[in-house]
Amino acid sequence: MCGIIGYIGREEATPILLKGLKNLEYRGYDSVGMATKSDRINICKGVGKIDRAIIDFDLTALKGNIGIGHTRWATHGVVSVANAHPHTDCKKSVAIVHNGIIENHQEIKEKLKAKGHIFSSDTDSEVIAHLIEEKLEQDRRGFEKACMEAFKELHGSYALLAISRDENRIVAARKDSPLVIGLAESGTIFSSDVSALLEWTRKVVYLQNYDVAVACKKEVVFHSLMHDEQISRESDTVEWNAEQARKGKFEHFMLKEIAEQAETICRAIQQDDTVVERVLEEVKKAKGIFFVGCGSSYHACLTGSYLFSKVAGVHVNVVVASEFENYEHFLTCDTLVFAVSQSGETADVLDAVRAARRRGSRVIAITNVIGSSLVREGDELLLMNSGPEICVLSTKTYTSQLMLISLLAYALAGRKEECSSLIKSLFLEVCNLTSKSMHEDLKMLAGLLYQKEHIYMIGRGLQFATAREAALKIKEVSYIHTEALAGGELKHGPLALIEEGTPVFAFVSEDNWDKTRSNAEEVRARGGMVIGVSARDDEVFDYWIRVPECRDFNPVIQAIPMQLLAYELAVKRELDPDKPRNLAKCVTVL
Ligand code: AGP
Repeated sequence: MCGIIGYIGREEATPILLKGLKNLEYRGYDSVGMATKSDRINICKGVGKIDRAIIDFDLTALKGNIGIGHTRWATHGVVSVANAHPHTDCKKSVAIVHNGIIENHQEIKEKLKAKGHIFSSDTDSEVIAHLIEEKLEQDRRGFEKACMEAFKELHGSYALLAISRDENRIVAARKDSPLVIGLAESGTIFSSDVSALLEWTRKVVYLQNYDVAVACKKEVVFHSLMHDEQISRESDTVEWNAEQARKGKFEHFMLKEIAEQAETICRAIQQDDTVVERVLEEVKKAKGIFFVGCGSSYHACLTGSYLFSKVAGVHVNVVVASEFENYEHFLTCDTLVFAVSQSGETADVLDAVRAARRRGSRVIAITNVIGSSLVREGDELLLMNSGPEICVLSTKTYTSQLMLISLLAYALAGRKEECSSLIKSLFLEVCNLTSKSMHEDLKMLAGLLYQKEHIYMIGRGLQFATAREAALKIKEVSYIHTEALAGGELKHGPLALIEEGTPVFAFVSEDNWDKTRSNAEEVRARGGMVIGVSARDDEVFDYWIRVPECRDFNPVIQAIPMQLLAYELAVKRELDPDKPRNLAKCVTVL
């Protein structure tokens, strides 16, 4: 998600733009830029964080009390200064910032190029600036009219701001990407979300689709692109504080990110086919393959090893990144290493990647952050496209990793299209799993478990990997000791831990129903409380969490109720699910 900020008023724009962009940092970004209007358009933009930009930019050059700013979260296309916003027209007389996707940008770009326009980036957004320039040339009816004519030609999604060297106004437009206006005492402030405005005002106007807002020093006038007429928009008063505003209707980021999974699992498989083909070729020619990750990413690797074996008949070694050094002597130039890390900055994973590079091995990076170190250090890159994950716990990024790895396993077996359609069919199942009724059931179960000292989890094959992930979720957010076991391991020792009332989750699939059920019988015989996670109930269960049977995709399906249960256990124990004690979102130390 990119972030947009704009200001017009009696004060210098730059300090307000910088603070507004800092307030939008939580959205995640890899590059930043600003433009102001004095007697010309002044622009500073670069790759990296805002704090770096404050040092690198010549902020004194950014004079003027009209300005726009942008933080770019690149999901496709390189991270570069040229691709950072703001973008300008050929004459540097118009500057724009944009959040969204202009679906017909290629067609517009070709037409404008044919008219002599020169482009300086490979983004879709840049066409907006040149289109406004073209409309200004064609029709001398002023900047705002030219903007509206230009916006009418855009297909796709946009929240955008445009300024001109020759006029004292900001023109804003919105379709399918959020844009809100803050009516502050010192002027008018535009933002991608309300949280960035609250330090200046609580009086806001939410732009609707096809709205255009023209802000001058004294007023804001609204137009409808749809009806080509002036309209009025009522202001609201925001009751939330900044942190609450960012979470929207959700109490915590964890809940918000769990709820996003129906969408993010579909986004995870939107991959560049040529990159996927290159990765498959790397797998086919490799002599030895490693999946390496930490925490939830390691559990995704573990799941992947079962899927590569079961679906593609390919053997992979799964190693916790911090243990990878013990396998370094196996590495050769024929070894292929998949480095899996949502942050792309986990020191253990980067350390493993550097060990692989030292031995000449090839590295495939699977990450969620395009500007991360892992992106630079891999030979090939598969992006998870989950959007920023704020909660310390990995939820949507975990299931995105599972989707991506499943796609690779199926593609290796020549079943890529089948996998894509199976994953799209999961959309409704995942929506149901994050529904209110499921949530209420899990809240009730949390009421039975939140005072337990120990919780155990068992599963076999894919369900063992899921048990590992579920145990991690509960222990890291509720601080209840939770241990996962391979179902067959119970009788080799851990069964001694089962007492009257000890809760044991049994993750069951049709593939291994009988064996896991008999493990559950062992638990019941010792007085343990068995909680089944499966598509059908069974008398061996004291409590049943109903999930659809999705076979190779059970790891995604069975993880989601456990994410919600972990959340409810934390809430029940009056803990902050977003910020568990002792933990960081990204572990950048070895
Ligand atoms: C998972 O909920 C934890 N946040 C943690 O185990 C995490 O998965 C691990 O630190 C790896 O992070 P990464 O995916 O960013 O490398």
